[in-house]
Amino acid sequence: MAALLLNIRPGDEVIIPSFTFVSSANAFVLRGAVPVFMDIRADTLNLDESQLEALITPRTKAIVVVHYAGVACEMDTIMDIAGRHQIPIVEDNAHGLFGRYKGKNLGTFGCMATQSFHETKNFTCGEGGALLINDPQYIERAEIIREKGTNRSRFFRGQVDKYTWVDVGSSYLPSDVLAAFLYAQLEARETIQLKRKRIWEYYHGHLRGWAEERGVQLPMVPPDCEQPYHMFYLLLSSLEERQRLIKELKARDINSVFHYQPLHLSTMGRRLQGDKVSACPVTENISDRLLRLPFYNDLTEEDQARVVTAITDFAFAT
Ligand SMILES: Cc1ncc(COP(=O)(O)O)c(C=O)c1O
Repeated sequence: MAALLLNIRPGDEVIIPSFTFVSSANAFVLRGAVPVFMDIRADTLNLDESQLEALITPRTKAIVVVHYAGVACEMDTIMDIAGRHQIPIVEDNAHGLFGRYKGKNLGTFGCMATQSFHETKNFTCGEGGALLINDPQYIERAEIIREKGTNRSRFFRGQVDKYTWVDVGSSYLPSDVLAAFLYAQLEARETIQLKRKRIWEYYHGHLRGWAEERGVQLPMVPPDCEQPYHMFYLLLSSLEERQRLIKELKARDINSVFHYQPLHLSTMGRRLQGDKVSACPVTENISDRLLRLPFYNDLTEEDQARVVTAITDFAFAT
């Protein structure tokens, strides 16, 4: 919907971090855009704002920022660059609901922001999402696009006496049943976020000393950022070490996962970039070393203790 509302057309360029889920890119690629992949910072794993301006061309039609793990990108710098070039920002806030940057909620910086309620998120209805619109000029058309290109919302409000097909669109609405399931969680957001805070702090408190000793990097939350406790990850020293740890955890019935495969090197990413493949060395390096620990609302301290023991028992190669 964001790509439709921004009138993205074939040949337009959209700047997107390479270290993200395919959804961030697909939305724009479906309109014919060429993704221009950006590298990330090695500390927060967010897009490296110092490289942003150099990627802007007269064809740049949007900048997608992803608040990785719900820790905000450097929004002051990014907003300044985008503002000077008059390029809209779309926040992929899949991880960041209830996160903040300098006291301001994530999802309120760009002209639009997207939320995911996929099963992996803090708040979930299995599959689903939301579009947050911060610029009123997009609201009327958004209502039409989400209703299969019809003016049905106006009909429901009694503003027209029948509804008809007025624009392109699709069925971007969740079912009432899923929305109710999600709404109950949003009502309990404080309880849910407190549980997640406890889980995150347990991992951090129990792994900090070990990580320092072993040269393992833990998530970094800059002082300007309030995180929504979406995930906890380790950055090991190499791909081999990460794979060995996954195996060892699995042997103790502990499921740990990694992501993202760099989009600039993916089959589709390469096809879209042609001979202009982006250089994203930090993304490639992080993607090999990142490991996500079990993290869900009802994870108990007892199970976390098992995870921590399995990790601290891990025999490093060196
Ligand atoms: C950065 C990011 N964007 C988007 C999504 C999800 O998008 P969707 O709700 O389309 O599955 C995810 C993960 O699932 C994600 O990590």
